[in-house]
Amino acid sequence: MKAILIGFMGSGKTTVGKLLAAHLTLPHVDLDKKIVEYTGKEIKEIFSQYGEKKFRELEQKTLVEQLDKKGVLSTGGGTPISEQNLKILQAVKTPVILLETSLNTVLKRVAQSQDRPIINQLSRNELLELYNQRAPFYQRCADLRVTTDNRSPLEIVEWIK
Ligand code: S3P
Repeated sequence: MKAILIGFMGSGKTTVGKLLAAHLTLPHVDLDKKIVEYTGKEIKEIFSQYGEKKFRELEQKTLVEQLDKKGVLSTGGGTPISEQNLKILQAVKTPVILLETSLNTVLKRVAQSQDRPIINQLSRNELLELYNQRAPFYQRCADLRVTTDNRSPLEIVEWIK
């Protein structure tokens, strides 16, 4: 991979990843999409039928498989949140880019989201707790940090390049 994007749900990993890949004329790889392709099930179905633990196993396996491939990789918001995945992301030669977004912006962007099981099952306070819990994990594996509040995807891509 040429770049790996990490960040909380709604930080723009997929949108920015697609645009960055287009600018670099590389394929865009979305980790969640790969999991959906592999299992033939939507993310919310994997959570409801098999539970989060099974999803995390699939996520780790898919992450490792994708690292050597060509392209720009957009991870899921929970991908860096395990010591094992952190080690993988810290060891990889590819730059790991953290998209930082305030919780307010996250809430605006994901308010209508139907297919994010984590968002659907949490209250605003619990989401804030999760946001604060995850921040240090993201920091620990990021090589580059970009604030995405009030920046368009194109501005973010220009900044990364
Ligand atoms: C998750 C984020 C989702 C998806 C899954 C779990 C998380 O990806 O991987 O629903 O734990 O934050 P996005 O960050 O693309 O929403």
